[in-house]
Amino acid sequence: MATLSGDVGGIWMDNPVMLAAGILGTTGASLKRAVLSGAGAVVTKSVGVAEREGHRGPAVVQVEGGLLNAMGLPNPSYRHFQEEIDIGRDGGAPVIASIFGSSPAEFVEVARGLDADGFELNLSCPHAERYGAEIGCEVYNVEAITRAVKESSSVPVWVKLTPNVAEISALGLAAERGGADAIVAINTLRAMAIDVESCRPILGNRFGGLSGPAIKPVAVKCVYDLAGAVKIPVIGVGGVSSWEDACEMIIAGARGVQVGTALGNAEGYGIFRSISEGLSIYLDRKDMALQELVGAARRFP
Ligand code: SIN
Repeated sequence: MATLSGDVGGIWMDNPVMLAAGILGTTGASLKRAVLSGAGAVVTKSVGVAEREGHRGPAVVQVEGGLLNAMGLPNPSYRHFQEEIDIGRDGGAPVIASIFGSSPAEFVEVARGLDADGFELNLSCPHAERYGAEIGCEVYNVEAITRAVKESSSVPVWVKLTPNVAEISALGLAAERGGADAIVAINTLRAMAIDVESCRPILGNRFGGLSGPAIKPVAVKCVYDLAGAVKIPVIGVGGVSSWEDACEMIIAGARGVQVGTALGNAEGYGIFRSISEGLSIYLDRKDMALQELVGAARRFP
């Protein structure tokens, strides 16, 4: 069988199929279960400096092509999260902490307060005032926050970008200048659903972020553009629901993939193993190494 192990953004993994931030990453038990089900690494739900309840409900609704969420970054604060990371690590794979803040100082406080195998900077949540994409759509902020966390931590730093901008590559280049070890693309697309009987927006926050199969072609294009612009690895996320989707992301230029919304599908946690196995069989059939597949689409004029 083709080997899938290797370094992804400064972190060694048995395979490059990871649990995405936000989905099932709130407890150590679910992080560990994802690892035991075959995830090469897991990313936690985003945590910040202070406890937050998040937006009022409904916070998630199923729409055509995926899920619309406006959770609002609910979290217990980093001060009450280390135990979940430690339980997740019992599974034997790297645990990456997704962290958010409203300034370089807040990001640094959270990173200094957590012991994880890496940090993923959430500069991309599309619906939280003062956080996420609200600051992460400016190249200056992306570079300054990345640099601040990088200088204050000894583990790899990944930056998760928003697709809700005209040119995502500019954000990727800013993260690279700041010293990022990898780019993670993409977070959800800003979106809305309205109930036609009541004439009201369905989500408590009125709008939210769309994830799932509907955004996969957007994610593939962002990964392709970023991989052509930066030298650091790109990790693809957005609508990955099968080994074919993972393959497509890798051919576009991703060195690893993250799975989120698809965990709600019938196979549940089994998706990690089925993606890895499908990828291995594909590489054997093509007689290719994983590295040869990364960015293969760029080799065609
Ligand atoms: C949320 O908690 O609101 C979702 C996080 C995100 O979209 O980054």
